[in-house]
Amino acid sequence: MKKILSFPEGFLWGGAIAANQAEGAWNVDGKGMSVADVAMYKPDIDIKDYVKQWHVGLEDIKNAMEATEDTYYPKRRGIDFYHHYKEDIALFKEMGFKTLRVSIAWTRIFPNGNEEKPNEKGLAFYEDLFKELRKNDIEPLVTLSHYEMPIYLVNNYDGWVSREVVDMFVKYAKVCFERYKDLVKYWLTFNEIDSVFRHPFTTVGVVEDKYDSKKEAEEAIYQALHNQFVASALATKYCHEIIPGSQVGCMVTKTLTYPETCNPDDIILAQRDNRNNFVYTDVQVLGKYPRHLLNYFKKNNINVKMLEGDEAILQQYKVDFISFSYYMSMVQSINAAQREKVGGNLVTGVKNPYLPTSEWGWQVDPKGLRVSLIDLYDRYQKPLWIVENGIGAYDTVEEDGSINDDYRIEYFKKHFEQIAIAIDEGVECMGYTSWACIDIVSASTSQMTKRYGFIYVDADDLGNGTYKRSKKKSFEWYKNIIKNNNIEIEE
Ligand code: BG6
Repeated sequence: MKKILSFPEGFLWGGAIAANQAEGAWNVDGKGMSVADVAMYKPDIDIKDYVKQWHVGLEDIKNAMEATEDTYYPKRRGIDFYHHYKEDIALFKEMGFKTLRVSIAWTRIFPNGNEEKPNEKGLAFYEDLFKELRKNDIEPLVTLSHYEMPIYLVNNYDGWVSREVVDMFVKYAKVCFERYKDLVKYWLTFNEIDSVFRHPFTTVGVVEDKYDSKKEAEEAIYQALHNQFVASALATKYCHEIIPGSQVGCMVTKTLTYPETCNPDDIILAQRDNRNNFVYTDVQVLGKYPRHLLNYFKKNNINVKMLEGDEAILQQYKVDFISFSYYMSMVQSINAAQREKVGGNLVTGVKNPYLPTSEWGWQVDPKGLRVSLIDLYDRYQKPLWIVENGIGAYDTVEEDGSINDDYRIEYFKKHFEQIAIAIDEGVECMGYTSWACIDIVSASTSQMTKRYGFIYVDADDLGNGTYKRSKKKSFEWYKNIIKNNNIEIEE
């Protein structure tokens, strides 16, 4: 039987992008170099080898700092959103977007991170961007830090390991709140703060080869994470003070793990992973470290320096809502060594025989999104916002210029059905921003040809192309979903 489920009135439908993957103009108008500008496109590496794709070592940084052009550094050019944003916003408006998630590149505001005064040209760019969104009745949702910290802070301060970086970030955040207080109401602090262990360089500026042992690197990463937690709480405090009525969210990767069987040993393994994934929301939503993590520090002699007052800061300045990305689920098994593995943005796990995978090996699991929404809501009773979800695929432009991305429509349809069911079952969900609403450079592989958008951008992995935008078949489909604010489901 078919049935129509509606989304709540005022549901914030839209799309998401990040500065470092979209803007380009990496050295324009005073912008400094960020960790994204040293991320290399490595055509000779297996695109499904997630760990190698993300890895950045000291030698890579040195080479990148010397490289002046962008051929093999695709994030330096993005899709040139910096110069195309008005045209892109017009297309988002045509789709009926209620919101657009963007990030501010810290290096446009403070090129090295430690300057006395902000860069006016950078501030002006985002002011114009937010005004353009408002003019089009699109609510900005702004991430302060989306894998784009100044490289200067990596080279001179050990990234987020250094406590001074907290002060620099808070200063940057305050400058943004002051400047955009009349334009931006919804803020996110750190994108996927839990990715510290998956790709520490990009997330917290930790270069693992600087450390003598795995243990030292692990301690440094936990220190960096703690500093980000404190910075996030302080940013939340100042946002509320400077912008009355503003709302701040944390942003995590929802990594749902299933046990392979009902063998209690499989269940314990899956529970361990799920519990670890909740650490990041626990700290930012409940305002304290879970006991199991503090025990882990003690047992393993991991010394995370927490200043007097940190605990109170975490406790006092909690987030208003929880935002998350959802791309896939994982499977844990005591027999993992004998099982086929899958990759994706959660590194590796056991293949789930019930699920298809994308061309990049990411397991597609719409029902896992329903489970995640219910799990998160039941645990925290806070409004949720899905701020990333989508499928990276190769698209083909037909001779007549059309792009028939039925696979993308199918992907979104199945995920929207599950969101609607979760809402119907009592979950409070504020909105949905697809990743990415327009083709951009991929975060892990730095590929342009891994496409996510409803809008096609004519550019290849090495930057050749006209950068002309065109609508894919999914454009009209998403427009209709937004217009109707409902979805038909099969019962
Ligand atoms: C998320 C990131 O982990 O995954 C995005 O927040 C990223 O920045 C997205 O683009 C998809 O990953 P990828 O590597 O396919 O771009």
